[in-house]
Amino acid sequence: MRKITIAIDGFSSTGKSTLAKQLAKQLEYVYVDTGAMYRAVAYFAMQHQYIGADFFYKKALIEALPKIQLEFKFNPDLGFAEMYLNGENVEKPIRTIEVSSFVSKVAEVSEVRSKLVEQQQEMGTNKAIVMDGRDIGTVVFPNAELKIFMTASAETRAQRRFDELQQKGDNVSYEEVLKNVEERDYLDTHREDSPLVIAEDAIEIDNSYLSKDEQFQAVLELVEDIVKTA
Ligand code: DC
Repeated sequence: MRKITIAIDGFSSTGKSTLAKQLAKQLEYVYVDTGAMYRAVAYFAMQHQYIGADFFYKKALIEALPKIQLEFKFNPDLGFAEMYLNGENVEKPIRTIEVSSFVSKVAEVSEVRSKLVEQQQEMGTNKAIVMDGRDIGTVVFPNAELKIFMTASAETRAQRRFDELQQKGDNVSYEEVLKNVEERDYLDTHREDSPLVIAEDAIEIDNSYLSKDEQFQAVLELVEDIVKTA
């Protein structure tokens, strides 16, 4: 069976990773969550006091980039890979609201982007990969056979994210989460380097009123069509 590259882009909390994981499992492809890589760099910047509520020492972060080693390690119990920063499993700390509030600023830095994009492209050399992010179909894999662009209203996404954080015991308000979602939408779409835009040949899916399963089945059909016609 022909192996393809699947690029999934879209706004934050649109369920990109849920769909990507379902596809990777079904097709036995590698799944790569590029947001986790940007989050890990933001977490590193926080740990080293390069970024905080009212400061960002961009130059210091750029100089420290060679010291940042990112790696995905497959966790068989979970069925997907987890993010490691310099040998430490950082899956949990990178998902906090604090990291979410700094990550877009870190993702604006061109030097950070080129380091991560290079690593992402290397991971895709053998195809059979599902990668999600903001610039996968436009910058990382402009030749991907299937490009999906996911959207949903800011309120729907904030509610989903809020429910997730509540379940994890994170004590945040819905208003705080909505504000974070809206701020990230703005920063992600307005940055100079690789802003979030829909690739010309991407298929747009608004999943405000779609169940996870309906969405998965629809995309699976798209994959099957492509693989068949190859
Ligand atoms: O998908 P996520 O919410 O975990 O992504 C975290 C942040 O990283 C998001 O605000 C934008 C940035 N990002 C990016 O700029 N490019 C990517 N390919 C993936 C994420």
